[in-house]
Amino acid sequence: MKGELINSEILSTNRGLNNNSVESDFINISYITSSRECELIESLSKLDKGGDFDNINFSEKILDKFFNSFEGSETLFLKNKYLYLLTEGAINYLEAYESMQDGDNKKLREFEIHFLSGIFEYYHKNYKSIDIVSIGSASFVKETKAMHNCKAHIKRFFPIDVSPILLQLGVLNFKKTYNKEDIHLNPILGDLWDISDMIDEKPLETNKLPFLQNAKNNLTIFTFLGSTFGNYHEFSILTKIIRLMKVNDVLIMGFDTFKGSSMVDAKKELEIKYSTIDNVRFLLEPLYHIPKYKGFVEKPQKYVKIKDSTISEYSATNDYNLLTSINDSICLAPFLVVPDDNGKVKKITLAQTTKYKYETFETWIENNFKEKLELIKNTNLSKENMPDDKILGNAVVSLKKLSNF
Ligand SMILES: C[S@@+](CC[C@H](N)C(=O)[O-])C[C@H]1O[C@@H](n2cnc3c(N)ncnc32)[C@H](O)[C@@H]1O
Repeated sequence: MKGELINSEILSTNRGLNNNSVESDFINISYITSSRECELIESLSKLDKGGDFDNINFSEKILDKFFNSFEGSETLFLKNKYLYLLTEGAINYLEAYESMQDGDNKKLREFEIHFLSGIFEYYHKNYKSIDIVSIGSASFVKETKAMHNCKAHIKRFFPIDVSPILLQLGVLNFKKTYNKEDIHLNPILGDLWDISDMIDEKPLETNKLPFLQNAKNNLTIFTFLGSTFGNYHEFSILTKIIRLMKVNDVLIMGFDTFKGSSMVDAKKELEIKYSTIDNVRFLLEPLYHIPKYKGFVEKPQKYVKIKDSTISEYSATNDYNLLTSINDSICLAPFLVVPDDNGKVKKITLAQTTKYKYETFETWIENNFKEKLELIKNTNLSKENMPDDKILGNAVVSLKKLSNF
């Protein structure tokens, strides 16, 4: 699908930071107007107003938008992005995130920020002009902190997310730290799939996407943090991201890891970590917008078992293979079982999060992206954070694009 870009403007709270002109109070957010997200928000708002019922059929059109289904599987798979799209989802995400923040989690988040700032400093020494593109940026807190020591060479920053509210929170936070002269901020609202599909056969620099314009002589560093990689089928999302990159551009990716020798213990720890009531509320939120499932989610305690079988891995089943393409990983895919229209039961997976063995990830990159991507093994640029006494850790890796293909 080819999209169109328009700009919308939001008011910043930081009046008077740059100068007193009204113009300095506005930040442009680029919208991909053909993105299905914009259509969905528009359709939902029409329904809310009691408007255009003829054009929208909830049970078919909205259902198709919310779920993936695959041949050979009875399961409906909720598309991950719908967890964040609407305001309630974004707020639930922030609450769920906090509820899962034990001491270890905080350390892992700080590791990503600390490591990212080291990576920015490394490239900052070698490149005079750097752009940053954050994929699934949420409110881009990590990038905002990490770029602080390198702002002299960072020219432009393009956070990309499906959530308008998270992007707007990020703009307010960013404007407290930097003024317009430091780094040019251009948030982009849209779905990564739609954005990647705007790349055609023509040379990349002729493309209209904002971060590809005037980018020929810049290094662009793409960030993909917060383990979003593990929320998607890995081969599919990585392929979409590298289409956006120029040869020699770099992708900094964060993902969760576990110690290979203790898979059973790792599974147990993950189940406990993800079983907070805030997390279940976050996972169920999109179903509130589908009348036929609303009843099932109003009493989550009744239908969703928080502690045991609801949060489980699909090892060795077909469903599991549809969710992850990396062997030997742990994929948690919480699900709901509801009766369908014919009285049979239907399984709906609400989300997925996959954790990896670091070495398995390396091998997977070598086998699947040979001559396309190089995993930079210099430990200053790729590293696993795995404390001796812990089962769970995380990793940040740098991947360089080697060729167009
Ligand atoms: C797990 S959060 C990670 C946020 C942040 N990068 C971090 O490190 O904390 C995933 C983010 O990706 C966004 N996202 C999910 N699917 C997306 C898609 N298909 N296109 C664009 N953004 C997406 C969500 O809205 C959410 O803000």
